[in-house]
Amino acid sequence: MDLPRHHTIREGDLRICNPFTPRKLATLGQVIKLRAGDTLLDLASGRGEMLCTWSRDHGVSGTGVDISTVSTDVARLRATEFGVADKVEFLHGDAGEFVAETPVDVAACIGATGIGGGVPGTVRLLERSLRPGGMLLVGEPFWRREPPDQETIEACHAERRDDWRDLTGLVTVFHELGWDLVEMVLADGDGWDRYAAAHWLNIRRWLDANPDDELAPAFREELTTDPLSYVRYRRNFLGWGVFALLKR
Ligand SMILES: C[S@@+](CC[C@H](N)C(=O)[O-])C[C@H]1O[C@@H](n2cnc3c(N)ncnc32)[C@H](O)[C@@H]1O
Repeated sequence: MDLPRHHTIREGDLRICNPFTPRKLATLGQVIKLRAGDTLLDLASGRGEMLCTWSRDHGVSGTGVDISTVSTDVARLRATEFGVADKVEFLHGDAGEFVAETPVDVAACIGATGIGGGVPGTVRLLERSLRPGGMLLVGEPFWRREPPDQETIEACHAERRDDWRDLTGLVTVFHELGWDLVEMVLADGDGWDRYAAAHWLNIRRWLDANPDDELAPAFREELTTDPLSYVRYRRNFLGWGVFALLKR
């Protein structure tokens, strides 16, 4: 069980695998008013940057679960680098059924609601690990503008228009599920660029070093088409944010 290799190559040395900059991640940690000693669960924790920086900066402890062995190893190294390896642990595994043994103060899934089959399923999954009164964090894309055609939809990594909601639709679904939206931090164009454009240099360097790899033709095609697709579609039509929720 592992994340397909092409993800790892594309994301290279990125620490945050979504359109958030380190500053946005720090802002989120501040605005949700973390307290020293708070416990966190991060499902699909990636390279562990959220848990590691928040443990260093706010004194929280917690567990991250991710299906990628590479990302789990990177996260463990980061914890050691930051001197928080005694406070955060990273488990390799499928987070789709993961429930914490001890209920946590904050349960998060940032950019991977597919693990619960979408936003409602992921909110229900996270809630199973949450103490009464605890906070959920959900990171999710949304339509900034209505996509005019199927080409735009697919360029935004969706199959159908309704694979993503617009921002109103996302807030509505949180409310319908019985949660108050109490904070949100949205990605901006700079954050999108740092995420998307970083992929291109990672791909180009990898292609130069691995011209005969079986993945090379697909990556060559991606590097030729993705920058145009990104500036034409994703950068204009797709938003992304992290939403903080408290149960009503
Ligand atoms: C877009 S990245 C976000 C990573 C991290 N939350 C961040 O913000 O940097 C999605 C992550 O979900 C992980 N993932 C996908 N499916 C998973 C699953 N079923 N169980 C655990 N992790 C999963 C991937 O390995 C990847 O690290």
